[in-house]
Amino acid sequence: MIHDPNETGYEPDAPGHADDATQSPADGAPAFPRRIRSFVTRAGRVSTGQRRAMDELGPRFLVPYTSSPVEWDAAFGRHAPRVLEIGFGMGASTAEIAAARPGDDFIGVEVHEPGVGALLKLIGEQQLTNIRIIQHDAVEVIEQMIEPGTLDGVHVFFPDPWHKARHHKRRLIQPPFVALLAPRLKPGGYLHCATDWQNYAEQMLEVLAAEPSLENTAEGYAPRPDYRPVTKFERRGLRLGHGVWDLVFKRRAT
Ligand SMILES: C[S@@+](CC[C@H](N)C(=O)[O-])C[C@H]1O[C@@H](n2cnc3c(N)ncnc32)[C@H](O)[C@@H]1O
Repeated sequence: MIHDPNETGYEPDAPGHADDATQSPADGAPAFPRRIRSFVTRAGRVSTGQRRAMDELGPRFLVPYTSSPVEWDAAFGRHAPRVLEIGFGMGASTAEIAAARPGDDFIGVEVHEPGVGALLKLIGEQQLTNIRIIQHDAVEVIEQMIEPGTLDGVHVFFPDPWHKARHHKRRLIQPPFVALLAPRLKPGGYLHCATDWQNYAEQMLEVLAAEPSLENTAEGYAPRPDYRPVTKFERRGLRLGHGVWDLVFKRRAT
């Protein structure tokens, strides 16, 4: 999924698409701005095993989207360092990291239903207790469900690169999004992004470096932190000579 930027086979600029930047209602009311989303809703088959995991484990591990902050200590049943992951895909890295860091709690946000089912299946297979999942647009989740100064970390691994220039507006890592996200970190909390698309890596570096509340932990790109597993797509890309760039920034203390 992650290394084929054309994965959606979708034409976002098609006229009349629901994600158009503005909409003019037929009743003559003024046009109002629509948010440009970083994803398209893809039909995807949920396997039998994923469906079973959703039925059996969903009630315990899925947190429904709400328009008010969540009591995360209550949702996890404990008080522990808390990391938000945006766009976990099929959840393989999420599960591996959660298993390796049992003392931390992970809030995974993903819009794609088979991915949600896949992560629930991994939670069941590996008996993980430190993950909660929200199936919703991460931008709205951050706005509504996460209070400022409450996150110890944020992971954004291989966000959709939207490689055509006319689609760059859909990229997640842009100044307004980072300005929304950074205050959710505690002072000293980290934001870790990774991408295999050089042009997006450059954009990430520029955008994160320009956010005044963040500071880079490295000179430019960071070495891959040990906790981020190398995915099979990444391994294949590396074999083919493609690069991967990690960026790790911290929220400044003041
Ligand atoms: C290219 S995939 C990467 C998946 C995973 N992080 C990995 O490394 O394999 C990007 C994922 O982000 C999800 N996504 C994109 N924008 C999102 C948003 N605003 N809220 C939640 N999920 C989003 C997509 O559905 C997709 O599964």
